Amino acid sequence: MCGIVAYIGSKPAYPILINGLKRLEYRGYDSAGIALLDKNISTYKRKGKVSDLEAFVEDKNTNGFIGIGHTRWATHGAPNDVNAHPHVSQHGHFVIIHNGIIENYGRLKKRLEDRGYKFQSETDTEVLSNLIEYIYLKGNVSAEIAVRLALTKVIGAYGLVIMCKDEPDKLIAARKGSPLVIGIGKEEYYLASDATPIVEYTKSVIYLNENDIAIIKKDELSLKSLTNEKLTPEIHTLDLDVDEIEKGGYEHYMLKEIFEQPRSILDTFRGRVVPDMSAIHLGGLLEVLPRLKEAKRIIIIGCGTSWHAGLVGEYLLEDLARIPVEVEYASEFRYRNPIINKDDVIIAISQSGETADTLAAIQLAKENGAMVLGICNVVGSSIPRLTDGGVYTHAGPEIGVASTKAFTAQVTVLTMMAILLGRERNIISDENYKKLILELVSIPEKIEKILTYSAVFEKIAALYKNANNFLYLGRGYFFPVALEGALKLKEISYIHAEGYPAAEMKHGPIALIDEKMPIVVIAAKDKSYEKVVSNIQEVKARKGIVIAIVTEGDTIIKEMADHVLEIPYTHEALGPLLAVIPLQLLSYYIAVMRGCNVDQPRNLAKSVTVE
Ligand code: AGP
Ligand code: GLU
Repeated sequence: MCGIVAYIGSKPAYPILINGLKRLEYRGYDSAGIALLDKNISTYKRKGKVSDLEAFVEDKNTNGFIGIGHTRWATHGAPNDVNAHPHVSQHGHFVIIHNGIIENYGRLKKRLEDRGYKFQSETDTEVLSNLIEYIYLKGNVSAEIAVRLALTKVIGAYGLVIMCKDEPDKLIAARKGSPLVIGIGKEEYYLASDATPIVEYTKSVIYLNENDIAIIKKDELSLKSLTNEKLTPEIHTLDLDVDEIEKGGYEHYMLKEIFEQPRSILDTFRGRVVPDMSAIHLGGLLEVLPRLKEAKRIIIIGCGTSWHAGLVGEYLLEDLARIPVEVEYASEFRYRNPIINKDDVIIAISQSGETADTLAAIQLAKENGAMVLGICNVVGSSIPRLTDGGVYTHAGPEIGVASTKAFTAQVTVLTMMAILLGRERNIISDENYKKLILELVSIPEKIEKILTYSAVFEKIAALYKNANNFLYLGRGYFFPVALEGALKLKEISYIHAEGYPAAEMKHGPIALIDEKMPIVVIAAKDKSYEKVVSNIQEVKARKGIVIAIVTEGDTIIKEMADHVLEIPYTHEALGPLLAVIPLQLLSYYIAVMRGCNVDQPRNLAKSVTVE
């Protein structure tokens, strides 16, 4: 939810912090702040973007070789200067930045107020800074012990980096529920919420695990558990490059990521479809395949776009592998006391691998003995380290808050799983197995072709950029795509949009049809094509505006619809991978024409690591 960055070493810390915060701004951006140790610790923080903070510190002392930085996505207290991080404890001994939520902060705050503490902000984080200080002063203990004792009293989630003015040669980092990565340099260390601010300095990283505490000096790192046992850090090498996280000449990350989809899909099946296209190998499922192929039921959990990918997965797995599937919003699943059987298999889908609701739903499933698999995009993130197996999407870093290439990569993984399981369960013949694999391998090229029509989508976007409502309709495999298209438009252009099964239109939404509301209909060739043609006729009979996604060469719908967006023919099971592209671009162009912040839409964050 927020972005954390920190540095300790021999280089000036300020540029590293500011540059790092800019790379993390997609994680949350309602205020930003830094703290730097020169002779003393100076703290600067402002409402607004990192650039506003940069302007604010222009004439300030930004010297120092140790520092911390934070870009916030508020959970407790409005976005303003006072609630911005870092938070300084009342007597100035501790300065902290925090990602997450201290759920019992109210009770802790009351106890501290009873002991004379006064609070400047409305945040839960300030409570933690004063709790650490209270224990530090009262117990006359080291900063490390004070932090550890304080954290044993905390209920909730945190990714923390802490400075102590009395122990200025170190940073203390701790993690429970919110991610923290440590970059290892030469007599220097970098910390961040994810690897993007670190990779330009070092590819050698340590991912903090649950309840880890790291005490970091510029030439020494000590890793311990919350219960003070010494831990051996596991060092990983990043397979990320700096240029992957730059915009690469595109106006927005989102546009870059839409156009990256031929490659990200190719990368996702590369090495998993054997060269002669005769088989699929998913290494992350090898050990669990016997149990997966005998599953009585698969429950797919996710949020937002990942939930939409899960819906596509339901159609794929039931259609191609004949395994019963349920798809659940992770946030609902975790609280509705669901029935989870030991022979259930849970598939958790998450781009970030850090979504709090999805993480909690996984915990619940594991407590009930179910096997949990993950489909994630961020290597080393929390979800993959919690699950019994899984498949990474290889979409590369997705910076734009609105998910595009992660969605198609998730659907690519689900398609490979469904084809593989269909073969393993003798539902799919050898011939069909190979045909589907060949068709999957042709998808990147077909997307390349759709992307060449982007100017057409831009023209249509210009016609409807001022609409107040949109309706998206799809049937079968294309129903989840209708939901995804509506979400894309909503979240980046702020236009209200709803996705619906096309046949459901006559059970209510048909009342909405007028001459102002565009209706996007996914009408590519599939088994329910004729039915969708009738739905389009129903709309046109009421003078509705129809923007239809059609299979190239379609002449029937061309006669009826106001606009057609063509996609190449493909097997209907692979249709979502193509049909979603025009919807992503339509939303992107409308949002840009409306002057919206496409990469960082208002109120949103890239990774929702709080409830
Ligand atoms: C998608 O465009 C949204 N930004 C959002 O719905 C996102 O899909 C959701 O928060 C889940 O995130 P995750 O995939 O990282 O778990
Ligand atoms: N709960 C803290 C706050 O509201 C941190 C939020 C975040 O993760 O950005 O300031």
